[in-house]
Amino acid sequence: MTRHFLRDDDLSPSEQSEILDLAMKLKSNPYSARPFEGPKTIALIFDKTSTRTRVSFSVGVSDLGGSPLIVDSTTTQLGGKESIADTAKVLERQVAMIVWRTFSQSGLEEMAANSKVPVVNGLSDEFHPCQLLADLMTIREKLGGLSGKVLAYIGDASNNMSHSYMLAGVTAGVKVRVAGPAGYQPNPNVYRRAEEIALQTGGSIDVYTDPRLALVDCDVVATDTWISMGQEDQKQQKLQEFPGFTLDRELLSNAKPEAIVLHCLPAYRGYEISAEVLEGPQSVVWDQAENRLHAQKALMVWLAEQSKA
Ligand code: CP
Ligand code: NVA
Repeated sequence: MTRHFLRDDDLSPSEQSEILDLAMKLKSNPYSARPFEGPKTIALIFDKTSTRTRVSFSVGVSDLGGSPLIVDSTTTQLGGKESIADTAKVLERQVAMIVWRTFSQSGLEEMAANSKVPVVNGLSDEFHPCQLLADLMTIREKLGGLSGKVLAYIGDASNNMSHSYMLAGVTAGVKVRVAGPAGYQPNPNVYRRAEEIALQTGGSIDVYTDPRLALVDCDVVATDTWISMGQEDQKQQKLQEFPGFTLDRELLSNAKPEAIVLHCLPAYRGYEISAEVLEGPQSVVWDQAENRLHAQKALMVWLAEQSKA
């Protein structure tokens, strides 16, 4: 059966853990898995800009013996001119996997419903699940485990990173806290799903409006831009709505002294995070960015194996 990865809860706790184990193995032995030998082609479609996702998937596909095909969707028939379903039916006959960075989650679901090859969410407005595999891998590396760790995400709690921290975090048994200003709270359906998963794993999910309270006794502090891709026209308004949410030294002092700091990048210094914290001793953002490569390679190996006829 074809497996897709459209949102963080598409993986069970044991599947997520298996992929993170494999990611660690591939980090120490990068060319030990060659599922795309041939080379098979993997389509990497971008409706939004990207540095990390584009580079890490391209390098990852090459490391796995395959050939990455980067598709800038603005120069294709996809998006208005040709349906997602028709696009999927064309691609599935020629490529071994489809990675798509797009706006709507329902578009990804439509692509997956019409594709015999795995479809991977390379970021949507609702979720960024590949980023979370890298983030969980980084926490495991730095803190020696995931279950029971306390992670606070502060910033736009209604965005893709917040939702992915909620679902992927509780899947790993993490105690997840998300803090955003009133009006930037998580989608209630995602919150309920995170609660359900937390009941099975021993994780937890709590929502705050005061970032200082969310950070108390935290092991991991994460933030992200206040203005996500596609929201550029809201920039001036949004910049007014996050007072107290800049992750600077003073705010970070509410967390454990040894807490690590994550940011999926790109970072906007002086807005969601100070330059001092981003470049300071608690920041692990460059390891986190590198781990996109290893985690996504593990994901692709796993999806290819699971989806064998
Ligand atoms: N973190 C992340 O997804 O970065 P890009 O937008 O550069 O791919
Ligand atoms: N929330 C951000 C993440 C960027 C990787 C965005 O969607 O633009």
